[in-house]
Amino acid sequence: MKLIIATIKPFKLEEVREAVTAAGVRGMMVTEIKGFGSQSGHTEIYRGAEYAVNFVPKVKLEIVVPDNMADQIVSTIAATAKTEKIGDGKIFVLDVEGAVRVRTGETNDDAL
Ligand SMILES: Nc1ncnc2c1ncn2[C@@H]1O[C@H](COP(=O)(O)OP(=O)(O)OP(=O)(O)O)[C@@H](O)[C@H]1O
Ligand SMILES: [Mg+2]
Repeated sequence: MKLIIATIKPFKLEEVREAVTAAGVRGMMVTEIKGFGSQSGHTEIYRGAEYAVNFVPKVKLEIVVPDNMADQIVSTIAATAKTEKIGDGKIFVLDVEGAVRVRTGETNDDAL
């Protein structure tokens, strides 16, 4: 299994959710965060205004998928979140050691 951690622009959340669920994702974690990338937040536009502070609001997605879905989901997120302006986000992929569905005791791919 792989853990996909993606930061996206907040207004893209619903579009990305729809795209990844259409591609087979059955669960995700969503967190409102602040962060910065290579511009250190200085020149980024948020809600039509240039953001004058160092941290820009983003949404962080955490999605665990079977290994054979990871590339497709990363591509789907990247294509959907893209506006071609700075701050479109970043996607990281990590290995996952195990998963359990608490209700049933199912493990790993069956737990996703
Ligand atoms: N190296 C990193 N490690 C962890 N989080 C990061 C990293 N780079 C970016 N992020 C997170 O992703 C968010 C979006 O980053 P952003 O898209 O601005 O990256 P960038 O490298 O500056 O690309 P761009 O030039 O397109 O803006 C940041 O606000 C931060 O939360
Ligand atoms: Mg940036």
